Amino acid sequence: MSKNTNDEINKRLMKEAEKARLNAYVPYSHFSVGAALMTESGEIYTGCNIESASFGATNCAERTAIFKAVSEGHRNIKKIAIISNLNETYPCGICRQVIAEFGLDAEIIIGNEDNFKILTMDEILPHSFTKKDLDKSEKVEL
Ligand code: THU
Repeated sequence: MSKNTNDEINKRLMKEAEKARLNAYVPYSHFSVGAALMTESGEIYTGCNIESASFGATNCAERTAIFKAVSEGHRNIKKIAIISNLNETYPCGICRQVIAEFGLDAEIIIGNEDNFKILTMDEILPHSFTKKDLDKSEKVEL
C-alpha cells in the first residue's frame, strides 16, 4: 500500500495552499486566497492572490500557482486545492478557463484541511472551450 494515500495528498495540498494564502497581497479586497497544485510528476506549486492599485492587474491565487508551474516546464495539473479567509471559495471564471488549459482532468479541492470537497472540471466548467476546438477549425485567410 502506498504510504501517501490520496486523502493525505489532498490534505497536504490544502496545508500548502493555506501557507501560500498567508503571502496574499490584498490591500484592496482583504480577501486572501491560497492555491496549491500537483503536477503529473508529483511536484507541488503554490500561489496567492496579488492585487494592484490598477484593479484589473490583479492575479488570482490559482493563476499564480499555475503560471509558476508552467514557467518551470509543468503543463499537466492533476490536482489544485483552493482556500480563502472565508468559507468555500470556488475559482473565478478566468481561473476555470486557465485550469482547463492545463488540467482538464484535474481534481478541484475546495474547503480547508479538515473539511474539503473534490470537484471535476466538468462540474465547474461544463461545455468548456479548449485547444481542441481551435485544432478543429480550419485556418481561414481573411
Ligand atoms: N480571487 C482569487 O485569488 N481566487 C478566486 O478563486 C476568487 C478571487 C481573488 C482576486 C482578488 O484579489 C480577490 O480574490 C477578490 O476578488
